[in-house]
Amino acid sequence: MNKGLLITFEGPDGSGKTTQISMLKEYLNNKGFEVIYTREPGGTKISEKIRDIILDNKNSEMSPMCEALLYASARAQLVQEVIKPAIESGKIVICDRFVESSIVYQGIGRNLGEDRIRSINEAATDGLKADITFMLTIPFEEGLRRKAKQKSFDRLENSGSEFHRKVYEGYMNLAKSADYIKVVDANKPIEEVHKDILQLIENLL
Ligand code: TYD
Repeated sequence: MNKGLLITFEGPDGSGKTTQISMLKEYLNNKGFEVIYTREPGGTKISEKIRDIILDNKNSEMSPMCEALLYASARAQLVQEVIKPAIESGKIVICDRFVESSIVYQGIGRNLGEDRIRSINEAATDGLKADITFMLTIPFEEGLRRKAKQKSFDRLENSGSEFHRKVYEGYMNLAKSADYIKVVDANKPIEEVHKDILQLIENLL
């Protein structure tokens, strides 16, 4: 049996990942692939509980390292319970956020350093890497505009504009650093973004 694929989506808050993920999932399903959708932090019973702790506005005293390790814990459980078994049985896994979110949000946004976050996550994922990562980019101000329409904000979303500016710049720099990361201009009509994604994934299928 062929090994499956791990496709991940990254991007700052408001970049439209959820819409693009569901369009890609439908496309792949129609082509006859078995597709599993999951999200981070979350995707398992334990990881969803960890998610609640991380995003809870009441946990304002949480230290950056505690936050980074909780994201890594949620990820470790998701990799071992869901992602690895699915890939090993030939399925395509689409994950909303993965290690790159930790590199950018905790490594850069929270100043923990990229190298430290990489090594924590090397352990958490048992070395598993995405086959392709779509990084959806939009201008910083457009992201803020899209997010402002939400009714409530979690602890990460309430982390202030300096944090979000660092995350944004972190994403832009990370995008240039590796071949498996594909930058997608998400400041376009939804259908056009979807077509760009299909073009980029074509030769992996
Ligand atoms: P979520 O509601 O899933 O956000 P989004 O819809 O924008 O993906 O909340 C996840 C939040 O956690 C989001 O603000 C990004 C942040 N995050 C990290 O800081 N580090 C991580 O490793 C991951 C996976 C997410």
